[in-house]
Amino acid sequence: MQEFDDIIAELKNKPVTGLIIRSDKESGFIAGADVREFQHIDDSTRAAELARTGQQVFKRLADLPFPTVAVIHGYCLGGGLELALACTYRVARDDVGTRLGLPEVRLGINPGFGGTVRLPPLVGAVAALDLMLTGRSVSGKQARRLGLVDAVSPPRHLMNAAIACLSKPRTRRKLPWSKRMMGVWPLRPLVYGQVLRQLRKKANPDHYRAPYRILELCRQNATEEQEAASLGELLVNRASRNLVHVFLLGEELKRQARKHAHDIKHLHVIGAGVMGGDIAAWSAFRGFSVSLQDQKPEIVARAMKRAHELFKKKLRESRLVQEAMDRLMPDVAGDGLRRADLVIEAIVENKEIKQKVFRQVERDTPPTAVLASNTSSIPLETIASALKEPSRLVGIHFFNPVAKMQLVEVVRGAQTSDAALNRARAYTVAIDKLPLVVKSSPGFLVNRILMPYLMEAMKMVEEGLPLKNIDHAAVEFGMPMGPIALADTVGLDICLSVAEELAEPLGIAVPEKLREMVERGDLGKKSGRGFYKYGSRGQARTRPAFSKMGEVPITERLVMRIVNEAMACLREGVVQDADAVDAGMVYGTGFAPFTGGPMRYVETLGETGVSHSLHQLSEEYGERFIPDAGWSQPDLLVRNVAS
Ligand code: NAI
Repeated sequence: MQEFDDIIAELKNKPVTGLIIRSDKESGFIAGADVREFQHIDDSTRAAELARTGQQVFKRLADLPFPTVAVIHGYCLGGGLELALACTYRVARDDVGTRLGLPEVRLGINPGFGGTVRLPPLVGAVAALDLMLTGRSVSGKQARRLGLVDAVSPPRHLMNAAIACLSKPRTRRKLPWSKRMMGVWPLRPLVYGQVLRQLRKKANPDHYRAPYRILELCRQNATEEQEAASLGELLVNRASRNLVHVFLLGEELKRQARKHAHDIKHLHVIGAGVMGGDIAAWSAFRGFSVSLQDQKPEIVARAMKRAHELFKKKLRESRLVQEAMDRLMPDVAGDGLRRADLVIEAIVENKEIKQKVFRQVERDTPPTAVLASNTSSIPLETIASALKEPSRLVGIHFFNPVAKMQLVEVVRGAQTSDAALNRARAYTVAIDKLPLVVKSSPGFLVNRILMPYLMEAMKMVEEGLPLKNIDHAAVEFGMPMGPIALADTVGLDICLSVAEELAEPLGIAVPEKLREMVERGDLGKKSGRGFYKYGSRGQARTRPAFSKMGEVPITERLVMRIVNEAMACLREGVVQDADAVDAGMVYGTGFAPFTGGPMRYVETLGETGVSHSLHQLSEEYGERFIPDAGWSQPDLLVRNVAS
């Protein structure tokens, strides 16, 4: 920033007719501030001061006596976009890899280098709030439609487009009247009122202050000074600290995985059902050549149709959709095995059938290919026993729905080689997912921790607690949805089968009620009735009332089951450390991100607090709450990765 400021000062007095700012980096323009630095700032005055310094540099850029253009490709986020906003013009590359956005809200802060001040007049209040409150990024073309950039163009014409901007007379682009109207009385209070109502549904103000601050700054037409002061306060707040922690955990998973080369060009997927079909589609979307095999052509055809819908939604342009479709080949005969670098099996959950399939896979694939199973419950070692070379087998456990869930558990079996594991990680990060290495053990990390939580919720239903109270308690804590609604969404049959798999090894009691419901055919959303009733489009039909009841520590019972099981996973070495538990639970289940994850939450309570709470619950509710032996090994809570 200092160097940039010096250059601007130097140019100011030179006979310059225009300035083009672009980046020579492959990865893009500027991806924003170094988030790691945030952790070292613990004083709000100092944080605000840093924001003010940035604002002054960008103000000097904006005040230059000649026109300036930002030429944007790849990432243009946060402070990067704020720099571009301080230029007279912006031109962007027209490919999908170009991403512009202000993602600060996701780190629990507001934009601090003038973004809240410069964005609304440029694109209108509604679009500006949408971008800043969701933190989502847009492509070059979308940015052009919003008025965020002045022109988009393919790479070879980009500099010409920038030069053309410089030769234009310097006029201020006017917002179309429809967008301007939203920002003036009498529409203005209506717009802000509406946005506030929407926001309340999505973010609990007790947990997430940043979006409410952003809204307030825009509503007041705040000054840069107010923006900086607000940033200062938010940055040192616990929620922001935890969100930054969560962000860094994700970055760390990617960084670790990117250390390894994968050399995977062709992927062969066996099983075109719910999971296999979507794994194949997602990988083709992300650029891999994929062949998709199942027993019957009509099953593969159904998956191809779903893939087409995904491509249309994500890629929009028909040329790109066609290219993605060309990368995905229906392959009932399994011809793709011969040239596969990676095979992912996602067929029925049956060990004999899986072993049989892998025997053939081993025969038909090149010896260098990595072999992977998406199994959720069959020990990797059992499947590997069918192979001559068991070290090639690794687990790549996706979550449903594949397109939405960021986390993928990469499972190391007793015989898995480092090479196979690392290539699987590198593939996973190449399809833009977060690979978490877990030991092959029942339920791996995520399902294992989630299951006791779901079972506890169902136990409360058996005890007669109202559904709504249980779900409400979890949502109030910060979960994306309550455990009962979650079980209905996943499907009660799937919950039951995972619970039964885990019941013995983990000593979990499966609630009778769950068995009865599955026997009756009440499977949740998909059958129209589970714990709740649903309409034909899966919308909840019953709205059970929230009832008053005696003191039952619902939240405590739910959360303590999670943290106690998380500790058991740590003690058994299911994952490397406490950071890995947090990453798995936040990215795999949406565990209240503002807490930083279950182990970070434990730090807030203090270990004694947790043990005390578990002891009390175990006296009142039974042995399942007895503190795990790991609580008396403090070294387990030492973090190695991101903090
Ligand atoms: P599914 O029943 O939707 O699909 C399985 C597909 O495999 C079917 O289309 C079937 O025709 C095909 N198939 C069976 N035997 C085959 C064979 N010998 N050769 C080729 N194709 C064959 O099942 P789903 O839900 O996709 O599960 C697949 C795997 O993924 C299982 O191992 C499951 O444990 C795992 N999994 C499932 C999750 C879920 O939420 N459904 C989540 C994570 C993992």
